[in-house]
Amino acid sequence: QASPQYHFVVKEAPYTRLCSTKNILTVNGKFPGPTLRAYKGDTIFVKVHNKGKHNITIHWYIYVRHGVKVPRNPWSDGPEYITQCPIQPGASFNQMVTFSTEEGTVWWHAHSDWARATVHGAIIVYPKIGTSYPFPKPHREIPIILGEWWKRDVMQVLKEFIRTGGAPNVSDALTINGQPGDLYNCSCSGTFKLLVDQNKTYLLRMVNAAMNTILFFSVANHNLTLVGADASYTKPLTTDYIAISPGQSVDALLVTNQNPGLYYMAARAYSTGVNVPFDNTTTTAIVQYNGSDNTSTPLFPYLPYYNDTKSAFNFITRLRSLADTDHPIYVPLNISTKIVSTISINAFPCPENRPCEGPNGTRLAASMNNISFVTPRRIDVLEAYYFHINGVVRNDFPTFPPLLFNFTADYLPLELEIPKRGTRVRVLEYGSTVEVVFQGTNLVAGLDHPMHLHGYSFFVVGYGFGNFDEERDKLGYNLIDPPLLNTVTVPKNGWATIRFAANNPGVWFLHCHLDRHLTWGMETVFIVKNGDNAVAKLLPRPVDMPPC
Ligand code: C2O
Ligand code: CU
Repeated sequence: QASPQYHFVVKEAPYTRLCSTKNILTVNGKFPGPTLRAYKGDTIFVKVHNKGKHNITIHWYIYVRHGVKVPRNPWSDGPEYITQCPIQPGASFNQMVTFSTEEGTVWWHAHSDWARATVHGAIIVYPKIGTSYPFPKPHREIPIILGEWWKRDVMQVLKEFIRTGGAPNVSDALTINGQPGDLYNCSCSGTFKLLVDQNKTYLLRMVNAAMNTILFFSVANHNLTLVGADASYTKPLTTDYIAISPGQSVDALLVTNQNPGLYYMAARAYSTGVNVPFDNTTTTAIVQYNGSDNTSTPLFPYLPYYNDTKSAFNFITRLRSLADTDHPIYVPLNISTKIVSTISINAFPCPENRPCEGPNGTRLAASMNNISFVTPRRIDVLEAYYFHINGVVRNDFPTFPPLLFNFTADYLPLELEIPKRGTRVRVLEYGSTVEVVFQGTNLVAGLDHPMHLHGYSFFVVGYGFGNFDEERDKLGYNLIDPPLLNTVTVPKNGWATIRFAANNPGVWFLHCHLDRHLTWGMETVFIVKNGDNAVAKLLPRPVDMPPC
């Protein structure tokens, strides 16, 4: 059976939100973009046609797992200047996407500047034909995409953000399925409505596509039962709210066991760094029981407060892999490669002739192990690696923090705040078993960081607050049923440990999924070498790779 061919036309289209109309970048004129559906094991082709004014790339959540035949295909991964040069206006690129190991909800998004603000959509991967969900078949499945809306042009917002080197321009609204919801001005008629029957089960396929905020989400009077996260099944987790980071997706069951009526579903920022007033940070949609009076005011749900770090981590650390006999997991037990990396907000001293609106007249930056990543601009990392072009990257990303200090102290000396700049990557042997500990720091500002690795799903074996201490903290690792994710939320002034087997050769981006931190340099690249046999080598380079 031939693989289906889809077409994504990236183009501008006018959209009206918050009382004003502007052109936004879309795929096929849609915002949020089209939902793709596939079965596990499928390969699809998506030809991306750039009919917009700016360069574009598209990233697909294709993550391989230990012990499974792997895609070996970074060519279609998408991050600009990491695995490809951007698709220029007027050009196109046919991307091959293979769903070899995931099952559940993932997504696709632009991976070029801040275009993903509006260029994103869900991907639903169904179980292989003949197999089924490890939970009762839901009555209906509903994509719920959480996002952000700016009244200004997002390209202008990014330009301004880079120009000032200071505090970012926060968005004007949060959104559910592209709609701010009726707590915002001019937003009543568009509010997303989910019509339901009583006593049925609905599967919410949720994605956090927001640019810069972790979100709390809940539904009034209803519990949610989480059954999957990042397209991997979890032990059922019943909860009255969830916390979801940019990059993440979850599958949650909603049982309509309440009296017929109207109930809000709502999402609000979990933002430890900024004090934001309640009203303009809460987006709503409405769950409406069929046959109920639709003129009444919906009930509002409980949501943790914006700075409630405890609630965020109580939820996040309760996730467990399903790990039953039909869904075995293979947690690496013997680690061959250990990496410990700080993840920090930093500041650069003010260069002459530049505006510097960061704290104390600095320019804000971010780093991993004190290296603020510099993205190449003339060629991408993958092609430089493939064609053995020297001078594009240095293979010396540090394995451990170059400076040891009390990372989470209340006061940290200014000289520690200044990172080095560089395109420094880490080479991993094929088949090595890798452990990465992310250590948050309190430089400039302690924040949560959703760290996202391309190419792999990884096990999150441990989390904690404060400074990581291997001898003490490894005793608490969960090696039995740790969640299998592709984005890990590292707690504010804390740490998280991930493990994976490096069996997907290629060039894989590792970055904070808050776009302002990505723009500031909180990222690096893992280059996983080819293995010896033929099925352990990169696929050949497609002939239509966009030229630089
Ligand atoms: Cu969802 Cu590198 O991104
Ligand atoms: Cu971050």
